[in-house]
Amino acid sequence: MKLTINGRQVNAREGQSVLDAALDAGIFIPHLCKHPDLEAVGGCRLCMVEIDGDTEPVCACKTTAREGMRVEVGGEHAERVRRMAMELILATHPTDCTGCLKYGMCELQSMYQFMGVSPTRWHVKSRPVATDDSNPLITHMFTRCIRCGRCVRACRELRGVGVLDYQHTPDGIRIGTDGGVSLEKAGCRFCGACVEVCPTGSIVDIVGLAQDDRSRADNVVPCRSGCPAHTDVPRYLRHVKNGEWERATAVVREKVPFPETLGSICVHPCEDSCKRNGLTAPLSICRLKRSAAVRDTGEWKARVRHDRLTGRRVAVVGAGPAGLTAALYLAEKGHRVSVFEANEKAGGQMRYGIPAYRLSDATVDNEVAIIREISQGSDDEPRVELLCGRHVGDPAGLLTQGYDAVLVSVGTHAGARLPMEGSDLDGVYVNTDFLKRARLGEPFDASGRVVVLGGGNVAYDCARTAVRLGAQKVDVACLESLDKMTSTAEERAEASEEGVELHDAYSFVSLNESEPGSGRVGSVTLHKIARFYFDENHRPVTELVEDGELALAADHVIFAVGQRPEGTDQMGLELTHGPYVATDDELATSMEGVWAAGDCVTGTKSVVAAIEQGREAAVSIDRFLGGDGDITEQLTEREEGPDRLGPAPQSFYEGRVSPQFAPAGERVCTFEVFECPFSEDEATAEASRCLQCDLRLRLQTPRLWTDYEEVSAR
Ligand code: FES
Repeated sequence: MKLTINGRQVNAREGQSVLDAALDAGIFIPHLCKHPDLEAVGGCRLCMVEIDGDTEPVCACKTTAREGMRVEVGGEHAERVRRMAMELILATHPTDCTGCLKYGMCELQSMYQFMGVSPTRWHVKSRPVATDDSNPLITHMFTRCIRCGRCVRACRELRGVGVLDYQHTPDGIRIGTDGGVSLEKAGCRFCGACVEVCPTGSIVDIVGLAQDDRSRADNVVPCRSGCPAHTDVPRYLRHVKNGEWERATAVVREKVPFPETLGSICVHPCEDSCKRNGLTAPLSICRLKRSAAVRDTGEWKARVRHDRLTGRRVAVVGAGPAGLTAALYLAEKGHRVSVFEANEKAGGQMRYGIPAYRLSDATVDNEVAIIREISQGSDDEPRVELLCGRHVGDPAGLLTQGYDAVLVSVGTHAGARLPMEGSDLDGVYVNTDFLKRARLGEPFDASGRVVVLGGGNVAYDCARTAVRLGAQKVDVACLESLDKMTSTAEERAEASEEGVELHDAYSFVSLNESEPGSGRVGSVTLHKIARFYFDENHRPVTELVEDGELALAADHVIFAVGQRPEGTDQMGLELTHGPYVATDDELATSMEGVWAAGDCVTGTKSVVAAIEQGREAAVSIDRFLGGDGDITEQLTEREEGPDRLGPAPQSFYEGRVSPQFAPAGERVCTFEVFECPFSEDEATAEASRCLQCDLRLRLQTPRLWTDYEEVSAR
């Protein structure tokens, strides 16, 4: 149908309001209580318009457009009512806009500036009402509320939760819960819809939740931005909640080709970012990934990208997580890829650096086999060729053997031995050799007392491996105090159950012979430190505790104080910080046609960070080979809704679901994986705790008047 607004003919849909018809046509009419995702209630009276033939102005949001209707937005009567309505709204609103979290994004601020209503008109009735910051995640500043009711309607109509309503209080009418109980007691889902639709700074995320260096979307869904590979966490958790294991795995696989591996051993920075850290405990995101991966049937394989063969060939040096990830995505882009691996099997640190009790060979074998399988086009052999037991030290040589590009992803397989007295005694090992030999079934002797020097997860891998190899007593000693240690609390707790004793905040003084002249280690001398820091020249400074010396008996000592790349100094590439390969932002090295990715570039980080590097390298190399660098894929349908969550059951507020573990007494005797994947019931219960923060991003952001072509009403 057609109607005329401000003398301009516009189209309207059947049943559409005059306000929506105008906004769709690019004609701005002031409004506040109407939000694009909510039904109109006609409360704020800013959208007043005059209709030809009517005696009084009407709310455009509650007036249905009719064929031939003639509407004037800036008529005198409409303007008078609109200005009065704005002055009433502002009468109880604080004037200190610059102190508001919504400053510059506030719809009220934008609207009164547009209407030219002076701030001096409203400070008379403004009075302070205590801000409610007693709830997790959400702060409610009542003084900034304009009672538009958007939050109430979002909670009730959009989410089906219904915990917010208008309440009569001694301070007047306020938005709140029945009886003034906490949001948790009222059954809030903490989905943030109320925050999202609030036009002012009245209902906001608690201070500290948003970070200036993240986009709005990343702040709203911090788990997704916290994952180095940006896996779509809320989306796959929703599938887990529904028992849709294939679809959950497909979502994970849209970003990473090792879902079960990551679900077993990821350091899960996503969980550190999870908003439920402010509400009981973060989601078990890592374990939920595994729960889906072990039940996956591979339906997603039919959707894997297979671009036409390009005739280009890429060599990848190193079959760890970065190299294999890059190989897969390059193959999907139509390039043939040869992966050279010095070890007998592919997997890199996943196979040789992580103990088998955390990640089995079978899991790595399966995920490597899937990479080869899915790299195969319909009319084709696998595009990824694995050449194990083939050491390559010269990337330039590969460029002369018919490869169009080379990726160096050799990882960090050389352990470091601190230059201290006794570090070369018999019985002293480095982490990488110790773990690799254990993984190969040819372990070093770990009998008697073992002391591990280092406080990261690798130190604990060594300690717990020593326990399983029959050590009589295992101690871990590290420079960092407990609160600064990089190992996870989980890892330390499990190791403690297995008898590993921690000595934190100790400097390493010397490794001592068992007997003078024996050449064998017999003890370690440590010294308790009060403080450890780096000075202005980045030199480490330790302040010792007086009489804080400690001697630990040690038949074997394992250095777990870092690791670095091996052989990179022979590759003819520019290096940085010692043996690390220098790259530009696109991961290109100093040699034309050679890229580098993973730990050999970044230093030892994590499997998921190496995977992300592999993705980035694939993008750069594909572009170099003439492609568009687009490696995105959609391995399952994007789900529509449901956006309604319903009131939270009591279980929603409970802590994390714990999977079944083998008891410590059993697991110390075996290298079998000791943690069971979540059962189906455990997985769905745990996934149901997700706040589904991403639903907020489905809500529309109202456009401000500056976004419209025609802004006649003033
Ligand atoms: Fe129409 Fe508020 S937008 S009355």
